[in-house]
Amino acid sequence: MIGSAQAGADISITGLGVKVPDRVMTNDELSQFVDTSDEWIRERTGIRERRIASDEEALSDLALPATRDALAMAGVDPKDVDLVIVATVTPDMMFPSTAALIADAIGAADAAAYDLSAGCTGFMYALAQAYGMLAGGLAHRALVVGGDVLSRLFDWTDRSTLVLFGDGAGAVVLESVPEQGFLGFELGADGGGGESLWLPGSGSRNFEEPDRHIKMNGREVFKFATRVLVQSAQDILAKCDMTIEDVDLYIPHQANVRIIDHATRKLGFPSEKVVINVDRYGNTSSGSIPLGLADALADGRLQKGQIVLMTGMGAGLTWGSALMRWTMDAAA
Ligand code: UT7
Repeated sequence: MIGSAQAGADISITGLGVKVPDRVMTNDELSQFVDTSDEWIRERTGIRERRIASDEEALSDLALPATRDALAMAGVDPKDVDLVIVATVTPDMMFPSTAALIADAIGAADAAAYDLSAGCTGFMYALAQAYGMLAGGLAHRALVVGGDVLSRLFDWTDRSTLVLFGDGAGAVVLESVPEQGFLGFELGADGGGGESLWLPGSGSRNFEEPDRHIKMNGREVFKFATRVLVQSAQDILAKCDMTIEDVDLYIPHQANVRIIDHATRKLGFPSEKVVINVDRYGNTSSGSIPLGLADALADGRLQKGQIVLMTGMGAGLTWGSALMRWTMDAAA
């Protein structure tokens, strides 16, 4: 693990935008493809529906409107963005990076731009990297996108994975601010558990039967998820000299409401402090936490001065937390 580092620089999120595909797919619709039911999916995962990209929609088609909204909220001219990081496992293509495509599309002509792969934890890794670049003076205005179009990787005959995932993206702007926004980060990975969630045939390793679909050992990932959500939250709070009572809003990765309930109970969060959107979006991978931020901002739960804890976990296996004070005015 790196970090459990307390952050020292006055850097925060100054703009936020999200985008999901228009197409809603219900549990009942999925039961036309595989032997499943609305009842099973709701009881075991809490998911009611998810968004599915059209054949023409790629990640950048979701990331771009999210990015434009984030820049508008921040009041930042795209020309002033000097760093673009896109956290994803479903870029438009392996190269050029989706980050470079986004930088070009918004007119951030000379910005450094790259994609980052850390599974569903990607957005947390990207936030920490952007923070580090800004704090170290390597960049001044960063755009961080988290998003995935996992439906491209669905095996439409595998009920053990098909029902869990959805498509979506979010973007944030990071800048120096007069007060401290980010308070700390904690990131880690356990490559030994990588085979529990993987995508064969997606890179330079040859497989006898290439099958570019998500493979998952659900029970193993469930055990990993419930453990790291609790551990990572406890580690970062301890490092930042804070307790659960100090946290106003908890945004865990949205994979399964049972995983979230488990972590919430163990940590001792009252339910009103916990953001849940997995019921509407399913698991959107790197999109899940920015979508959670947007929900909390929209329903008024995210207010200036509040302490926000975000924890992601996913393929790698990876995990990561960020603790921050929300510094944006409600009217922003
Ligand atoms: O970002 C990280 C990504 N992934 C995750 O976080 C996923 C973590 N894992 C999970 O959320 C859960 O393990 C699942 C939702 C994937 C599965 O729930 P579970 O309670 O662990 O179910 P299970 O795998 O133990 O399966 C129970 C039964 C099995 O039938 P039998 O063997 O008991 O007859 C499965 O075949 O449920 C069956 N099953 C289904 N039935 C209807 C599995 N998937 C389905 C389905 N519909 N979609």
